[in-house]
Amino acid sequence: MAGALPFGRLDGRRAFVSGGARGIGAAIARGFAGAGARVVLADLDVAAASALAHEINAVAAGLDVSDVTAVQAVMTRDGPFDIVVNNAGIDQHAFFTDTTPEDWARLIAVNLTSVLACTQAALPAMQAARFGRVINITSEAGRLGSRGGAVYSAAKGGVIAFTKSIARENARYCITANAIAPGPIRTPMLEQAVAAGGDRILQAMTGATLLGRLGEPEEIAAAALFLASDQAAYITGETLGVSGGMGIGG
Ligand SMILES: NC(=O)c1ccc[n+]([C@@H]2O[C@H](COP(=O)([O-])OP(=O)(O)OC[C@H]3O[C@@H](n4cnc5c(N)ncnc54)[C@H](O)[C@@H]3O)[C@@H](O)[C@H]2O)c1
Repeated sequence: MAGALPFGRLDGRRAFVSGGARGIGAAIARGFAGAGARVVLADLDVAAASALAHEINAVAAGLDVSDVTAVQAVMTRDGPFDIVVNNAGIDQHAFFTDTTPEDWARLIAVNLTSVLACTQAALPAMQAARFGRVINITSEAGRLGSRGGAVYSAAKGGVIAFTKSIARENARYCITANAIAPGPIRTPMLEQAVAAGGDRILQAMTGATLLGRLGEPEEIAAAALFLASDQAAYITGETLGVSGGMGIGG
């Protein structure tokens, strides 16, 4: 790997992180900025994104990633990017029979269509540069399914299949595409689920992991930093479970 950046460094790389204002996205943005990348945080919550951007010397962009036209405009304005992390997502807490087509449309738009939109906006410049890292934050629910999260799981499963396809189409450009499947991670999304469902939900989540605990956003960020690094150049099309062992089933 002649000319590779040192292990754990992203100096000079330009990174786009969706949903970067809080939770897992914020940890990834912090990790990437600390490793020397120039980071653009895109989030619906522009005030929180701006506060974090100020702190880590990054750029904040107000963006609804489910708006395909807006994605193209923002990523053209703030790009090009060497690394794209498709992290923004929303959760579902309802049995499928209690959901509506409007619920499905929103869950698919934010959790799947946004990944397509951000990836398509970034790929032409990556192909021209013959370098790129696409990192998609899916979920173990995308591999295992989930009670009360059928549409969420369908979208996240779609992200895994999309990641493999992008890996196949772009290997010849030295672009890798990988997914990370978090287990239960201590973020505002999870805290809202626990607030709604109580301790029973928390126990079910931790009990589903082999390690018997929640993960921390920084544990996802560490995996993302590795996959973004020059040292991960021979890894593509994979889904890496960062889930305390939840992904092996049983
Ligand atoms: N926390 C977990 O336990 C867990 C587990 C598995 C997968 N995930 C996935 O990890 C990712 C991050 O989750 P989190 O727990 O940090 O969530 P979070 O709700 O704490 O943070 C998500 C961020 O995304 C932003 N966002 C939401 N919709 C958006 C949109 N349409 N456009 C732009 N920004 C938007 C929010 O404003 C927020 O800043 C999601 O894709 C989620 O599905 C989380």
